[in-house]
Amino acid sequence: MLEDVQKGLEGVLVAESGLSSIDGDAGRLIYRGYDIETLAREATYEEVLYLLWHDELPTAEELEAFADSIAEERELSADVLETVRRLAASGEEPMAALRTAVSALSADEPEPDADPEDLDATLRKGRRITAKIPTILAAFERYRMDEAPVDPHPDLDLAENFLYMLTGEEPDDIAAETIDQALILHADHGLNASTFTSMVVASTMADVYSSVTAGIGALSGPLHGGANQDVMEMLIEVDESDRDPLDWVKNATDEGRRIPGFGHRVYNVKDPRAKILQARCKELSEANGDEKWYDYTTTIEEYLTEEQGLVEKGIAPNVDFYSGTVYYQLGIPVDMYTPIFAMSRVGGWVGHVLEYQEDNRLIRPRGRYTGPEEAEWVPIDER
Ligand code: SDX
Repeated sequence: MLEDVQKGLEGVLVAESGLSSIDGDAGRLIYRGYDIETLAREATYEEVLYLLWHDELPTAEELEAFADSIAEERELSADVLETVRRLAASGEEPMAALRTAVSALSADEPEPDADPEDLDATLRKGRRITAKIPTILAAFERYRMDEAPVDPHPDLDLAENFLYMLTGEEPDDIAAETIDQALILHADHGLNASTFTSMVVASTMADVYSSVTAGIGALSGPLHGGANQDVMEMLIEVDESDRDPLDWVKNATDEGRRIPGFGHRVYNVKDPRAKILQARCKELSEANGDEKWYDYTTTIEEYLTEEQGLVEKGIAPNVDFYSGTVYYQLGIPVDMYTPIFAMSRVGGWVGHVLEYQEDNRLIRPRGRYTGPEEAEWVPIDER
């Protein structure tokens, strides 16, 4: 047994995986050997899903069949739609609503009794969940706006179909490309907290609905996926403060506030995904003729990096620092940003569940007991 406790499992190797690798010093991320920059530029989200789940890039025919197999599974049952409607009416937080709705999907699962060792069945279930998450989120938002849900568009791919179901209009090319690229960037990232959570559940041979539901719960926290929403709320606070962003961030850091979107357990330099999203943010700002949000974000980054010297300390912008301003300029509600993260990361969760269960071993670490060894029982009336 390892003697010293590694709190937070920091630096502890718990599994081998071929899905993705992060070089925290070089600021490099690869999915099955392909640089994230290449995938973001050349691939589609469906292509990346295929790569993560099938260990290689698809041919054109394989991709068409794979994309069709996802498109066929997008619809929600009347029961799940009613669950989503009630959650929206109750004012439920979107990530909590997603966690509940994904769990409710299992009641409609066509292969409920599939053998957990049957990884082909697990893949089909994971594909169903992945296909339905955009429909759940769009329906939730429509219900919140007192609008009827928009049915999935049969000819649009997963990412642009999400925007279509949100607004009822087909997105323009920039928006469609941007959201698809965002899903590629968030699809997988080693053994982050939510992926590891999914693996722990999978290691008990529980069903993939349980793994994904658990992953959603882990992702919702502000130290993990919730940071993208916190960054946008911070930028809105800057905007409403009528203070110069430089003045605002100086004051915030003087007050000891931890700026969301900065820092990472693995990256000691700027997250390569943040660089790509920053470029997207600039492109959208120029296309929209409003560079305010881009300027706020870069001003805060420059101050923390140069004045505060955070990057020297290995604290740099992560993926959440620019994703919010990209989504904001696409007109997506701020509290839907982490759900979009989940819409993408479900691909990584399912990929890691399949990979880990192929050579499964129950994940069960040890803890060092620090309580008394010999406690003497005292009857309650003598305590
Ligand atoms: C994601 O793991 C993944 O791969 C996650 C992710 C993925 O794709 O799945 O990349 C997505 O979750 C990105 C991270 C999103 N979270 C945030 O942006 C929240 C703000 N950042 C943090 O709270 C923090 O950086 C963590 C939680 C992300 C990482 O925390 P660690 O590794 O536990 O680091 P720590 O909290 O112990 O901080 C180490 C040092 C501390 O300084 P000292 O006390 O040692 O002097 O870095 C400092 C911290 O004070 N620090 C910050 C900071 N974050 C850490 N200082 C200023 N601002 C910050 N935001």
